Amino acid sequence: MFAQGSVVFFDSGVGGLPYLATARDLLPSVPMHYVADDEGFPYGTKTPLQIETLLLERMRRIRSRLMPAAIVIACNTASQVGLPALRAAHPDIPFIGTVPAIKPAAASTSSGIVGIMATERTVADPYLDDLIARYASDIEVEKLSAQKLVSFVERRYLASSEEERRLAVAPFVDSLLARKVDRIVLACTHFLHLEKDIAAYCEICGAGDVQIVDSRQGVANRLAQLVEDGTISVQEGDRSGKPKSEDCFLLTSEAPFDPAYAAWADRFGLLPPERL
Ligand code: DGL
Repeated sequence: MFAQGSVVFFDSGVGGLPYLATARDLLPSVPMHYVADDEGFPYGTKTPLQIETLLLERMRRIRSRLMPAAIVIACNTASQVGLPALRAAHPDIPFIGTVPAIKPAAASTSSGIVGIMATERTVADPYLDDLIARYASDIEVEKLSAQKLVSFVERRYLASSEEERRLAVAPFVDSLLARKVDRIVLACTHFLHLEKDIAAYCEICGAGDVQIVDSRQGVANRLAQLVEDGTISVQEGDRSGKPKSEDCFLLTSEAPFDPAYAAWADRFGLLPPERL
């Protein structure tokens, strides 16, 4: 059992790690644990019912092991499909979801054409159309499923060369640039790991003015707000002098884990993987 009053970040895999990193920058003394549902991965090819069932089961395990003060669903697919069911099942816990950053992209586009890269499920979900109708009704929005990139990040990213990453993102970026987008919304958290590669490839294509937009700062700000107004009561630890992190990295599968997860945990200052 871990300390009461932590914030738990949850994703189907490693996609939510950049969200945890940004939140930590803002709230360095708040314990933040990470749970990757590697057994359920990937979510983007599953039906809403399959995703909801997984989420409800995982949440029960998270609550009994970590006793979190708040849970960030650092996964667009899970947020879109499962937040209502999670909130209904756990009304005493604040859930913070990840929503595609369509609003800031639509507000800042010059060309009036915005691209959205997401999972198969997110692209097909009517929720995304509602968001577009609400925040981007006066511009053109190109939705693009880039499910293949999710597995690339989860399985190959850490061992990949710059050239391999360029080749991985190229077909997706090419297709959006052909539609003349000047904003690319990363609406799958896994793609945040490829942000630099996407930007570099845009530059190579002579589209260096294209801006990549995501929701990580918004999520961190929301968390900070809930801490400040007392909605979330977290137990702040003394991290002065930056001692070794005591934040956990938990997986839903049985050990032995894929060795890449130990490297991911280390890269984001988390303890070596354990089973949830
Ligand atoms: N990282 C997740 C998202 O933001 C899901 C990726 C997947 O498991 O397909 O949508």
